[in-house]
Amino acid sequence: MVDLMGLDRDASIDDLRRRAKRRIPRFAFDLVDGGAENERNLRRNRDAFQEVELTPCYMVDVSRIDTQATLFGQTFAAPFGMAPIGMLNAFWPEADLTLAKLCKAQNIPYVASSAASTTLETLAEAADGNGWFQLYVSSDADVTEGLIARAEAAGYTTLMVTADVPAAGKRDRDIRNQLSVPFRFTPDVVMQCMANPYWALLNLRHGTPNVANYADLLKSATSYADVQKTLITPGFTWEDLKRLRARWKGKLLVKGILHPKDAATCADLGCDGIVVSNHGGRQVAFGPATIEALPAIADAVAGRTTLILDSGIRRGADILRAKARGADFALAGRAFAFGMGAGGQAGGERAFEILHLELIRALGQIGVPSFNDVGPSQLSTVP
Ligand SMILES: Cc1cc2nc3c(=O)[nH]c(=O)nc-3n(C[C@H](O)[C@H](O)[C@H](O)COP(=O)(O)O)c2cc1C
Repeated sequence: MVDLMGLDRDASIDDLRRRAKRRIPRFAFDLVDGGAENERNLRRNRDAFQEVELTPCYMVDVSRIDTQATLFGQTFAAPFGMAPIGMLNAFWPEADLTLAKLCKAQNIPYVASSAASTTLETLAEAADGNGWFQLYVSSDADVTEGLIARAEAAGYTTLMVTADVPAAGKRDRDIRNQLSVPFRFTPDVVMQCMANPYWALLNLRHGTPNVANYADLLKSATSYADVQKTLITPGFTWEDLKRLRARWKGKLLVKGILHPKDAATCADLGCDGIVVSNHGGRQVAFGPATIEALPAIADAVAGRTTLILDSGIRRGADILRAKARGADFALAGRAFAFGMGAGGQAGGERAFEILHLELIRALGQIGVPSFNDVGPSQLSTVP
């Protein structure tokens, strides 16, 4: 594809973020960019990665680098996929569908959010065998069962249940922006749209996004708080997870685990994988960064379940840091979102390319030609 936008001058995911910020109204940019309260965890996720050193080793033949990773019997081209992001079309129109297709084209996993702005059926078709479905367990058992049955019928074989939303995250930026879903066209929102006419035009063409999987349920919703009520899971307990394990015949992953005790219980209950995640710093501002939480979790599960890490991944080397500390795979959320915001499909592709090329380069630099061989011996100080 001809790079008319000059995206190849964007060297990093941070560059894509800066470009996205210039093209998107503040209220929509903040919806994705923001974190909980004073955003301490948002920053901490990234800072903690910086503290994990890998020591390069030389005189190893790295002329062929292999980034493939096999997970649940499926071999992916790279050891990272797209994390579930709700309401992403509010950030950039058609982002869900574009990223689902991109993940298929690049052969990496795409996780469709319960709260996506495109239906799970449409995303399953677009991701075509590379799609996983993320579930919020509703307080209404019929709603949960309805989503599970739809996910099954759509052909998903991997279900990722999110555990870390017992209460809605408090995101100060959204409160300041008086964010509502669907958007309310207040004078401030109109001004912001006028300052970003291309974004506004695309939105007019594609229509105001909403949480597509709950379309029927939310006909009566009048505020973002109403929408959130359906997505938060205050009553979700280990008993529910046991039932879910019995109900779902495919691979079951639990997302949002930070405590080694919880990780061990997930493994005891027969979960196929854990996503060590703090929701990208969107839930609490006082918890650990995921790369900090990871070693104790890896010890606690001792290989009994697959470990996936997300939150704060902005560099290919972050994925190596996670592997060296015990993760099998990684997910990136905002990195892909910023790519979409920077340049639509071409920007999403650029985000993948940046992470993948950085990963390949870093593997060469540490003298490990195959991603699968990265382990604790690459760490400067073994934790
Ligand atoms: C705008 C936004 C919406 C999100 N929506 C969901 C969601 O619907 N379900 C979920 O399990 N996680 C959700 N997450 C969390 C991501 O799946 C992932 O954990 C997080 O983005 C990883 O951090 P990163 O963005 O720094 O890569 C969301 C994150 C963002 C930024």
